[in-house]
Amino acid sequence: MERAERRRADPAAMALLIRGLYINTGRYPWVLMQSPPGETGIPQEALSIDIAPARYDAHYLDIEYAAKILQDAYTAWEFDRAPAGAEAAARAEGGKKVPSCVVVKEADRVQGMYWIDQDFDAAKKRMEAKNDTLLTENVSLAPLRFDVAHRAEVVKNKIALVTGGAQGIGAFIAQSLAASGALVVIADCNLEGAETLAVQINAKEKRTAAIPLAVNVADEASVDALFKTLIKTVGGLDICISNAGVLKAGSVLEQSLHDFTFVTDINYTGFFLIAKYAGLLFREQHRTAPHWKTDIIQINSKSGLEGSNRNGAYAGGKFGGIGLTKSFALELVDYNIKVNAICPGNFFDGPLWSDPEKGLFVQYLRTGKVPGAKHIADVKAYYEARVPMKRGCTGPDVMRAIYYIIEQEYETGQALPVTGGQVMLH
Ligand SMILES: NC(=O)c1ccc[n+]([C@@H]2O[C@H](COP(=O)([O-])OP(=O)(O)OC[C@H]3O[C@@H](n4cnc5c(N)ncnc54)[C@H](O)[C@@H]3O)[C@@H](O)[C@H]2O)c1
Repeated sequence: MERAERRRADPAAMALLIRGLYINTGRYPWVLMQSPPGETGIPQEALSIDIAPARYDAHYLDIEYAAKILQDAYTAWEFDRAPAGAEAAARAEGGKKVPSCVVVKEADRVQGMYWIDQDFDAAKKRMEAKNDTLLTENVSLAPLRFDVAHRAEVVKNKIALVTGGAQGIGAFIAQSLAASGALVVIADCNLEGAETLAVQINAKEKRTAAIPLAVNVADEASVDALFKTLIKTVGGLDICISNAGVLKAGSVLEQSLHDFTFVTDINYTGFFLIAKYAGLLFREQHRTAPHWKTDIIQINSKSGLEGSNRNGAYAGGKFGGIGLTKSFALELVDYNIKVNAICPGNFFDGPLWSDPEKGLFVQYLRTGKVPGAKHIADVKAYYEARVPMKRGCTGPDVMRAIYYIIEQEYETGQALPVTGGQVMLH
């Protein structure tokens, strides 16, 4: 391995390795939680590993080496319990047993204590009660079915991140994923909005189905902090939806550099940052879950496939997003990470279009983008008439595309239009 690629097996990296190992044994997207620092007593049934045994040099704290120690320790644990074979034991007991707590030590000092269970609430309860009873792996994902009604099952129990999830398309995605059984991290610069939505979702689903976190996707330190908190809170990730986006319409002859940069920083650079940190997370998880497919999905736009008059900053950033999607897909396929973009047509119902103060209908009316339009209704009618299916894109239209992309294991680097026939691929 190249020296530059050596990464430290810190508590976050260990969380990902452990979750990966569990995914790999049971093909189930477990939630993993870390005890607060300072816990020392090792629970009796815990799987305890030392990633820096005294006989090795400090450089063995390398993550790759830690993954090997973890895997070896797990195999030894299985053998100790069932020397005749874990599979035979699983059949006899009606389900394979695995430890629910993993303690990671660094030269005899406890570095982290990790609790694993089927969903967020169960994992939290287990950590708080220090309940180290063994888990039974009798859970499994629903088998793949090919009718649309069951398509949503591909996200059941998975952990999904939705950026810009506090309102609009992102909020619809967060609500829908939660309703389909996923645990959704709603990350937004509008933390208050994310919190309000999470409370609504959790009340509706009667479980912890949504967790709000703050992020500015255009700021690397903020994105880094988001992923660190996410790993600490739920142990890893399966689906990353990069949805946060902004639009400031403006003529190339008039738009200020300030406005152009504002749009580009969020829509283009923001996607790079989210994909970078999601990619790093997924790569670590992949070390111990090599067969698990993960998804990075950019909510792009119809404007990423065709020019948009007096809207160059937006269309340019979205075109660029597809370039990033294709390039990242080529690189990350090595880690079983799929990278795809969804290109919705105009989503008239959300605040981006309909906000009475700064929505696009008002903006386009003011900038004269629609010739002859005198009222907002004229602008709307103009845009609807341009769609072969004569209506705007809706939340369910976007969700069908998301479920398709996740279910489809044999596709990456694609930009999928959801435009009512307005944009057709060449
Ligand atoms: N509305 C449409 O017609 C339409 C059509 C195609 C594609 N899209 C794309 O869908 C995505 C969502 O659009 P929408 O219409 O729901 O927008 P919206 O303005 O209603 O919501 C965007 C969300 O992103 C958040 N956000 C903005 N900047 C952020 C930042 N720097 N960091 C974190 N969060 C930030 C906002 O707080 C808000 O909650 C965007 O990427 C947009 O380009 C929208």
